[in-house]
Amino acid sequence: MSYQKDISPIVMAHCSPCHFPDSGKKLPLNTYEAMTTNIEKVLFRVQLPLTDEKFMPWKSKKEPLSDSLIQVIKLWRDQAMPM
Ligand code: HEC
Repeated sequence: MSYQKDISPIVMAHCSPCHFPDSGKKLPLNTYEAMTTNIEKVLFRVQLPLTDEKFMPWKSKKEPLSDSLIQVIKLWRDQAMPM
């Protein structure tokens, strides 16, 4: 389990371009530091009900995270977020 192998591809697929500074204007989530700093916010948002206005990915312009992808992020956090 690592940021490079497991987490970065999930964020790339589900949270770009909005959270990638070159094209997006929202809280950057495209780096290891950004993800570790905001991990609780991220987990909170992706686990909200789909109809919640705070649910991410925003307005479901991207595929919502499956339960198994959410588990991957939780496991990574619980393992002290290896790079
Ligand atoms: C289509 C664009 C879009 C996508 C895709 C998207 N977001 Fe967002 N995100 C937004 C917008 C707009 C806001 C600001 C409104 C709000 O806070 O709900 C936001 C806010 C957030 C915040 C709160 C930021 C803060 O400053 O507290 C988090 C955390 C977040 N998004 C996480 C994610 C994650 C994780 C993904 C991918 C699973 C994702 N977002 C995908 C547009 C997007």
